[in-house]
Amino acid sequence: MTDLDAALAALAQRGVTSLPPLGLVLGSGLGPLADEAENAVSIPYAEIPGFPQPSVAGHKGRLVVGELEGRRVALFQGRGHYYERGRADAMAVLIEAFKRLGGSTLFLTNAAGGLHTDWTPPSLVAITDHINFAGVNPLIGRASDDRFVPLTRAYDPALLEALRAAGAEANVTLREGVYMWFNGPSFETPAEIRMAKLLGADLVGMSTVPEVILARLHGLSCVAVSLVTNFAAGLSGGDPSHAETQEYAAKGSADFRRLLRAFVKTQA
Ligand code: HPA
Repeated sequence: MTDLDAALAALAQRGVTSLPPLGLVLGSGLGPLADEAENAVSIPYAEIPGFPQPSVAGHKGRLVVGELEGRRVALFQGRGHYYERGRADAMAVLIEAFKRLGGSTLFLTNAAGGLHTDWTPPSLVAITDHINFAGVNPLIGRASDDRFVPLTRAYDPALLEALRAAGAEANVTLREGVYMWFNGPSFETPAEIRMAKLLGADLVGMSTVPEVILARLHGLSCVAVSLVTNFAAGLSGGDPSHAETQEYAAKGSADFRRLLRAFVKTQA
């Protein structure tokens, strides 16, 4: 049995034989959204073979299927990162299981460092495109030709439009930018941040990019938002730390949740 089959079997055993079309991967600070879901079932990742077993404080590791704004959604609370075990495909089984059970849209969220001096933390930024600077790819080793995934429109233009509308509806300032994936887990140096800026990045972070690649492999549409928890290293005195990331993730959480709820309302 493959990991995917084992995951589907474990989910079925707990009564989950289908998932709603919209799934959200909840990053730092967004855990409370999963607690707010109504009529929810919750399954720890630990009980689903192949799902990531989070090792980061503040990442819980559970699937919550429930209602937000009267719509059923799948909330993936916690994610696997490349830096945890050196596997860029840490989220492969979770994402394929979502697709197999009916998922069609994946909303990725994360905490990130900001490269603009006027993006005061906590700021919310819609990701319009990415730069894979980690030097790895979750599809390395995949033997079939579907591995040549086009990423020209990785972040779905129609979903981005819906997200802009949600920002207006929720009355939050939503900036837009390019996210650059660093593998971490150490933060960047000031020289790396100057380089990132020269290369066209607006945000730096340690997640999301491999998830978008996997999601596009399976034909899922993607939309993503970063919560800027800090000025990137060396910028405006930026000296990022895990503690600061967590502190500002919590500070931005209420606006972020309002934005996500408004987005959910834009979906059928
Ligand atoms: N760099 C990388 N990842 C991050 C940062 C950062 O400055 N802040 C939050 N996640």
